[in-house]
Amino acid sequence: MKKIVVSGIRPTGNLHLGNYFGALRNFIRMQDEYNCYFFIADYHSLTTHPHPDHLRQNVKQILASYIACGMDPEKVAIYAQSDLPETAELYMFFNMNVYLGELMRCTSFKEKAKQYWDQLKQELMEDMAASDNPGELKPEKESNKVHVSAGLLTYPTLMAADILIHKADFVPVGKDQEQHLEMTRTFAHRFNRIYGVDYFGQPQAFNFGSNLVKIPGLDGSGKMGKSESGNNAIFLTDDDATIRKKIMRATTDSGPVEMNQQKPEVIANLFQLVKVLCSEDTYKSFDEAYNNCTIRYGDLKKQLAEDTIKFVAPFRERIQEILADDAYLEKVRRAGAEKARESASKTVREVRNIIGF
Ligand code: TRP
Repeated sequence: MKKIVVSGIRPTGNLHLGNYFGALRNFIRMQDEYNCYFFIADYHSLTTHPHPDHLRQNVKQILASYIACGMDPEKVAIYAQSDLPETAELYMFFNMNVYLGELMRCTSFKEKAKQYWDQLKQELMEDMAASDNPGELKPEKESNKVHVSAGLLTYPTLMAADILIHKADFVPVGKDQEQHLEMTRTFAHRFNRIYGVDYFGQPQAFNFGSNLVKIPGLDGSGKMGKSESGNNAIFLTDDDATIRKKIMRATTDSGPVEMNQQKPEVIANLFQLVKVLCSEDTYKSFDEAYNNCTIRYGDLKKQLAEDTIKFVAPFRERIQEILADDAYLEKVRRAGAEKARESASKTVREVRNIIGF
């Protein structure tokens, strides 16, 4: 029996090279050896309340990108999370035994909720300072636009449902998802304990060891990701001129001052991109130039831009081609959803039975 693999990406816009090297490439490497379920986490994206048109468009975009990057619909079940309403039921069951404290301690929640707490604290302090009657209960301010939804709080429960609905053995995800996966194992174990069964396993993170590459961004801030300017990331859909412009604008410093000096982070980041996208010889020659202080960053960027363009162009073209074929996209998604639903409805049926329905 092939081991089961589940993973997903939230449809928050176009995929960038960080998504490709960090997630997608690993997904595709797994498709021959494992029984894979790769989905688009459109339920999850509701925590940021997208417009329905954007949601539809973004889901299509990721679906096309999955296929364009080499995911084979014949081997893998490709679907949208919302194609499996069974997930919502499992999520509800898990939530009955997930604790507020553990959700609130989750790092990703704390980061996202910080603005809310800061604002609330500020308001409470202001109320206290302004009131001559400390016992008076002030209503929540209408201007309080930031909210923390139950959906955001229970994000890890939903992710656990995605994974456990197929009883996954492996989950290819980056380091930032490790805590969520740990919570998945906790919820699985708790379910088994409460009902005295040995039903859910303990899904493990999966990566190809040393092949897990970190893709830095172009603004020197570390990871490639969406930024306000949009200049930190190279998207799989960027055209040649955009790629050139972004790379030529990447942050650098005033150059090495000593032979063989250690590279500061912004420069090390740029070299990391060269390593991933250019030939070994190119990397070596720029590394040498850096070490003997003759490097010209302009030359490095030009080369990096040309090699990145060569790398991205086929993906971009393929994505456009696939996006133009609505019928094909629909067919792939329907077949994927059908396969995924078979496995999902079996799990939910068994879980209902275990629970006592
Ligand atoms: N939380 C993941 C992310 O933000 C996306 C995700 C949702 C996921 N459900 C999942 C990943 C299940 C793996 C398995 O990247």
